[in-house]
Amino acid sequence: MAENRERLPESVQSNVATAGNQKPLLRLVGVGKTYGAVRALEGVDLELYPGEVVGLVGDNGAGKSTLVKTISGVGPASEGEFYVDGERVDISTPTTATHLGIETVYQDLALCDNLDVTSNLFLGHEIRTKLGTLNDIEMEKRALAVLRTLDVKLPSARALVSALSGGQRQSIAVAKTILRQAKVVMLDEPTAALGVAQTKQVLNLIKRLREQGIAILVISHNMVDVFEVADRVIVMRLGHKVANFNVKETNSSQVIAAITGASVSEDAPGSNVNSIVGGEA
Ligand SMILES: Nc1ncnc2c1ncn2[C@@H]1O[C@H](COP(=O)(O)OP(=O)(O)OP(=O)(O)O)[C@@H](O)[C@H]1O
Ligand SMILES: [Mg+2]
Repeated sequence: MAENRERLPESVQSNVATAGNQKPLLRLVGVGKTYGAVRALEGVDLELYPGEVVGLVGDNGAGKSTLVKTISGVGPASEGEFYVDGERVDISTPTTATHLGIETVYQDLALCDNLDVTSNLFLGHEIRTKLGTLNDIEMEKRALAVLRTLDVKLPSARALVSALSGGQRQSIAVAKTILRQAKVVMLDEPTAALGVAQTKQVLNLIKRLREQGIAILVISHNMVDVFEVADRVIVMRLGHKVANFNVKETNSSQVIAAITGASVSEDAPGSNVNSIVGGEA
């Protein structure tokens, strides 16, 4: 790992052990977003490496969802550069993002309650037979395989989504991203509405995604979840990325200090405070 350290950009040097690869899957440089008179994002640089989980934290209105939307093409950036596998890309629509291997799981999940698990997994991407009819057997086979890989426990691949728990539904939404062969998966508050057991299930699922070499960006307000699952934590405040912590070398007080703008010692272990924006949050 020592030789990797020399080649990596400074901002991720402390994360070499978890990133495990020197080439970022996704890189953002100077990303900004303006909504009318609101400057929602300013000069955001970000790198996501294969097989790492990055927590994206910050107060309400800090710009987390806006940042995810620029990457998912739902709300394209006003300025900045995007690179996927080192290639400069223009993410202007959700379809572009999907083609680049970027999948997003939103809180509302967009699952169809009246359909079963397999039909939801393949909705809009159905597998057909040579005759053009739905190839239910093949879809169910692949559905079972992906659910097994992710260790998702369900009554059956034909259970109606309306009969599933919040955690199970979240798992189906994540499994969909795998079937679409995502390289980067972003989750906006995946455990916000879940109980203890369901949260554990979803956090385990995120770990399974990491094992697949996927880069995962998770927005969360829950420090316990972040510390449970993330390798790295990025803090947003007032539209700026203000800190980048290696989870193994930090604690929740340091992260919370960066979120609120309380002074954080720049030489605190594990912290890489890029800039602390002025003013109160
Ligand atoms: N469609 C929009 N039009 C105008 N302003 C917007 C829009 N979406 C977001 N904003 C503004 O951009 C800023 C960042 O919002 P964003 O939703 O990204 O915050 P967030 O960090 O996701 O917050 P939360 O934790 O509450 O979800 C806020 O000031 C918000 O009011
Ligand atoms: Mg949000």
